[in-house]
Amino acid sequence: MKFFIDTANLEQIKEAQALGVLDGVTTNPSLMAKEGITGEKNILQHYVDICNNVTGDVSAEVIATDYDSIIKEGEALAKLHAQIVVKVPMIKDGIKAIRYFYDKGIKTNCTLVFSAGQALLAAKAGATYVSPFIGRLEDISSDGLNLIDEIRLIYDNYNFNTQILAASVRHTMHVLDCAKIGADVMTGPLSAIVGLLKHPLTDSGLAKFLEDHKKGN
Ligand code: G3P
Repeated sequence: MKFFIDTANLEQIKEAQALGVLDGVTTNPSLMAKEGITGEKNILQHYVDICNNVTGDVSAEVIATDYDSIIKEGEALAKLHAQIVVKVPMIKDGIKAIRYFYDKGIKTNCTLVFSAGQALLAAKAGATYVSPFIGRLEDISSDGLNLIDEIRLIYDNYNFNTQILAASVRHTMHVLDCAKIGADVMTGPLSAIVGLLKHPLTDSGLAKFLEDHKKGN
């Protein structure tokens, strides 16, 4: 399973990259605003900065919602850097645009996916990634992990190449659950990745090894 970090915070991106387990980055307009990145020029430059600090795919989301504008904005984003993946919302014009980008060889991430039907449509259109939001489904008492399971079944039935990018991952158990189900990618906060490290028996075992080593010297 690939690990993406879901943030526009450059320091956290660098920290995750330094861990040696990072495969890419996802961003969205809310995450950019959270970092205080505003204005078209600054936003575009920030995407380039992110690309220059990681080795994998970097999702950059279009703001446009009509077909012509999505194409224009998506092509401009794709030209910024070879690592850019154009993130397109799951709307009718978005699906049409994903097909256009597919034909042009531009990678896409279909975002705001909340049903298996939407995921099927994204795969039919040729999306590189589909992003089901598991945390937001759980926020409204719906089963986000079951959605990943359903999409996995459908994609495997027909050998779709679209990668399931489990998004809105909030914590470490989500990462493990997505890995068990067979999501291709998960994107979440750095804390969800670092959380995988933790086990009290590791800490106490290491403390004892170091203590015994001191006694022997
Ligand atoms: O980037 C999309 C998704 O991961 C958002 O997550 O936590 O805002 O629901 P969240």
